[in-house]
Amino acid sequence: MGVEVAVEGLTKSFGSQRIWQDVTLTLPSGEVSALLGPSGTGKSVFLKSLIGLLRPEQGSIVIDGTDILQCSSKELYEIRKLFGVLFQDGALFGSMNLYDNVAFPLREHTKKSESDIRKIVMDKLELVGLLGAEDKLPGEISGGMRKRAGLARALVLDPQIILVDEPDSGLDPVRTTYISQTLIDINAEIDATILIVSHNINLARTVPDNIGMLFRRELVMFGPREVLLTSDEPVVKQFLNGTMIGPIGMSEEKDEAQMAHEQALVDAGHHAGGVDDVEGIVPQMQATPGMPVRQAVRRRQDRVRSILHTLPESARIAIEESIDADYIPSSFPSFTEPLESV
Ligand SMILES: Nc1ncnc2c1ncn2[C@@H]1O[C@H](COP(=O)(O)OP(=O)(O)OP(=O)(O)O)[C@@H](O)[C@H]1O
Ligand SMILES: [Mg+2]
Repeated sequence: MGVEVAVEGLTKSFGSQRIWQDVTLTLPSGEVSALLGPSGTGKSVFLKSLIGLLRPEQGSIVIDGTDILQCSSKELYEIRKLFGVLFQDGALFGSMNLYDNVAFPLREHTKKSESDIRKIVMDKLELVGLLGAEDKLPGEISGGMRKRAGLARALVLDPQIILVDEPDSGLDPVRTTYISQTLIDINAEIDATILIVSHNINLARTVPDNIGMLFRRELVMFGPREVLLTSDEPVVKQFLNGTMIGPIGMSEEKDEAQMAHEQALVDAGHHAGGVDDVEGIVPQMQATPGMPVRQAVRRRQDRVRSILHTLPESARIAIEESIDADYIPSSFPSFTEPLESV
């Protein structure tokens, strides 16, 4: 089962520039979570902090019982082996073909033979739809292919925690859906804890079990998908509908006067872009038929039930409906017994 990542009171600045402060969230083991937020809110900085590439000045990040902000570099090295990371730019080695790029972590961190390595590499390349492109250099392929190659490389060490920074950037909508499906299938297959950083609304609505949102140097919310997808919080609503109306502006945050002015234009009939009033919850993407059942679904149902009383009513209703819809009983009643005793 994937490993839980517990972040508490995390604060990160570069010099005098505060990126975010007091971020507290737990990525539940084996569940898929997404971190949303407008450009520049520090999503990538957060992801890099989780693997110890950047050091927040306050707070803790506890992974498998170890606070990676306090531990020795040797311990950090061991913890990092739990991770598979897809960086925003793919971070492939430009002078190596795709095969060698994907094989790199295996050659670096394991003593596997080249024939074992070959099996794993081809398996992962097939998973991301890149069979046949092994000999290509990163410079010779499309941005979307580079993303998928980066994902294949992130998976070769069978990570327990997978971090993916904008898996959809540079991909067309259909490829984005394929990569979303791949992530869900990987979760079903290896039960890894997954964090997806994205600003893709469609992905946010359909893929993760949990959603968080960064805005104005804070984690505005983090919780079960139903909480954010039914939220009335203006910034969350605006983001999920992709409209210009709301606190998120083009370059910086808007003030009250500007928001009132824009709302007046909309009231007078101006179209503010985005998808107006997408309400409610679309069903979550499921693993491809034939894949193992996602272990996380069951665990999450139990977990969410236990916090149900703490959630807003709209989320509570949505969760109860979805639990009814895909409840997986722990054991099916035995029909060899008289019905009354079932
Ligand atoms: N190594 C660094 N040194 C100094 N400032 C940095 C560093 N890395 C990121 N920043 C700053 O931190 C802020 C957040 O950057 P980050 O890349 O995390 O945003 P993001 O939410 O991932 O944006 P996008 O959605 O566009 O990828 C930016 O203002 C950026 O300039
Ligand atoms: Mg980023």
